Formats: sequence, structure tokens, C-alpha cells
Amino acid sequence: MTRVLPGTLGADGRPATLGVMGGGQLGRLFVQAAQAMGYYTAVLDPDPTSPAGLVAHYHIQADYLAEQGLAQLMQRCSAITTEFENVPATALYTLGAQRPVAPSAECVAVCQDRAVEKQHFIDSGVPCAPFARIDSAAQLDAAPASLFPGILKTARLGYDGKGQVRVADRAALAFAWDALKRVPCVLERRLPLALEISVIVARHADGACVHLPVQQNLHRDGILAVTQVPAPAVGPALQQQAIAAATQLATAMRYVGVLCVEFFILEDGSLVANEMAPRPHNSGHYSLDACDVSQFELQVRCLAGLPLAAPRLHSPAVMLNLLGELWFDAEGQESAPHWAEVLALPGVHLHLYGKASPRRGRKMGHLTVTAADPAGARAVALQAASLLGLPAF
Ligand SMILES: Nc1ncnc2c1ncn2[C@@H]1O[C@H](COP(=O)(O)OP(=O)(O)O)[C@@H](O)[C@H]1O
Ligand SMILES: [Mg+2]
Repeated sequence: MTRVLPGTLGADGRPATLGVMGGGQLGRLFVQAAQAMGYYTAVLDPDPTSPAGLVAHYHIQADYLAEQGLAQLMQRCSAITTEFENVPATALYTLGAQRPVAPSAECVAVCQDRAVEKQHFIDSGVPCAPFARIDSAAQLDAAPASLFPGILKTARLGYDGKGQVRVADRAALAFAWDALKRVPCVLERRLPLALEISVIVARHADGACVHLPVQQNLHRDGILAVTQVPAPAVGPALQQQAIAAATQLATAMRYVGVLCVEFFILEDGSLVANEMAPRPHNSGHYSLDACDVSQFELQVRCLAGLPLAAPRLHSPAVMLNLLGELWFDAEGQESAPHWAEVLALPGVHLHLYGKASPRRGRKMGHLTVTAADPAGARAVALQAASLLGLPAF
């Protein structure tokens, strides 16, 4: 992979440009990290108000498959990454033929399909929930009884708990598959979860891997709500096992870039891989304030072929997600949260993504609390949650 060194000027006299497919908050945080290192940045996203498009040097407003938009992005950029996994893999193939693209279209394609993703877990020797593909009525009838009670998930395009139905038995499964419009799905056995964690690894084109510390995650209504680091309820052996599994998953597909692997820890203490994201992840946002190298700087370094230094957690941290419902008062009127009170607390770092219209469940920003010790971070995060009207954790 070619290196795109920071500060080098192109033929047009401008600094080298790094591009990103997708203009959401992850793209915005990538753009800001790239800009901090002196790069120019380009975003391709059809939305004129996309969070990343608003802060990039170039915003190409085009559909992800529009030939002209892709041509413009290639013309502008020395290397290109992605910020969400549902960028059509074909667009990444097109870009990859002319420019370094990381992660590759092949790796993104694995993460785009839950059945292919689970096969990658199995092939890499990493345990996952027992599952069956449900692509046809025959497969529905043949689903093993051991998968009930289960969860039916669409194979593609699911996120934040969307595209999932819990099914108690075969009759419920048939009903649920109809409700999901009979698109290709996977049926997974519902597992007894003790808790959920994630691991972010970054892999360089030369094969070197680094990782962030294990994150302990709490979801509400299928959406990440709280991340705590260090993970308060996970022992060192299990943490090492999760880091080794995430590294193995990246290495086995010769992945280049930042990869997040979500795991379940079951009631019996065993570790099970759930899903992968071929990009930085909401559960890694704390790294902006609590680590000496953030997940977004790792993404920049991987994309530009720069050396990867192992990140160090310098402060224990708690991250609270800020969803759109916080922008409404008890009467349902729109009103911004009381930031002044929250920001008066020690070690609070507020990040807002520049989204104009709040909606229920929409990720508007996050708040990271750092402190000298985990108990201190938790205490302040609980105070912040209470001021914002969020439940305790
Ligand atoms: N097999 C399972 N057993 C128990 N809980 C599950 C299972 N699969 C998913 N869940 C729960 O649903 C949440 C969302 O599922 P996930 O597969 O991660 O989908 P998404 O892409 O929406 O994040 C998980 O974080 C977990 O809390
Ligand atoms: Mg998930």
C-alpha cells in the first residue's frame, strides 16, 4: 500500500486529500482527525446537511453508486475509506481499482451480510451463536428446533436493533419472516447474556495490529447507551481472549483499517462473537478523550499507510450516547438539553455532530467523562445522566 504522508503537497499545490464514503458522525470524526494531521478531506454523501459534509474541504453530493460522484472522489483523493458498512460494495470495488481503499470492498462485503460474517467467525475459530440461514420457505421448515427461542435478523442492512424479531417457536418464525418481507435472514438462538463488550482493532497493510482496551457496553432498545472503560465486570483473561479473537478476525481476512467486533459474555462466562463493523464504532468514541491515539486517528494512519503506535488509555472513561429524545421537554416541545449544568462537572467532554433536527433514537452526540479512577468517572457520569434525565446504569 502506498503511503500518503501528511503535509505533502499535490500537483495542485494543496495538501494530500483523504476521502470517506458516507457523511454521518463517524465520517465527521474521521475528517476532523485527518484535518488535525494536515490532510485535506473529501466526503461523498447525497445529503447536503450531512455532519461530515459540513466540515470537510470537499463535499461531493452524489449517490453512492453515481459514476460521476465516484469519479470526482477518485480525482480528489489519494486514498479512500468508508464510515458505514452499507456503502454498496460495488462502489468500493470501483474506487479500489484506481485508488488505495481501506477497508477493501471484499472485507466490507463480509461485514454486510450476517450469514457470511458468521461463516467468517466459524472459519477463524471464533465461537458465535448457533444459527441457520433463512432464505426460503424450505429453510424455514428445516430450521433446527435447537434454535428456539431465537432472534430472526435480516442478513443485510440491520442496525441499532432494526430488522430483528424475537421468535418463540416455528409458528412465530413464519410470522416474523413474513413481517420482514421474506428477505434473506439468519435465525440465531437467543443466548443468556451476562454482558456485552466490544474490541476495536486496527490493522496496517503490513500486517501489524494494535487495539483499544476492551469496552463494556450497555444497550437500551437495541441502541448503544453507555460504554465503560476499563470494562468493570470483565477479568483480564477474558479481555485477552476477546482481543485475540478480534485480532484473529482482522488478520484472517487481511483486513486493513479499523475493525470493531461486538461480543457477548454469556452467563457461564464464555465469549461469543456477535457482529463486526468495518469502521470505527460508537463504542470507541471515548478514545477521543481517554486514549493517546483515538480510533479515528488509527483509521487515518491505516488509510495513509502510516505507522501504528499502540494506543494507551490515559484516563478511565464513561461514554453516554445523546439521542434525539433529549432535545424534547416533558410536553414534547423541542428544547436543547441544559449543557451548562453538565459542563460544570469535572472531566466532561461534549461532542455534538451538527445534526439540525433531533428525532427519537437519532444519535445527536455523545458525552465522555474522564477521571483519575473508574469510580470517579462513573460517579460524574451518573450525575450527568441524572441532569440530562437519562436512566442510571
Ligand atoms: N443471539 C442473541 N441472544 C441474545 N441477545 C441478542 C442476540 N443477538 C442480539 N441480541 C441483542 O440485540 C442487540 C442487537 O443485536 P445485533 O446483532 O448487535 O444487531 P445490530 O446490528 O442492530 O446492532 C445486541 O446488542 C444484544 O443485546
Ligand atoms: Mg450490534
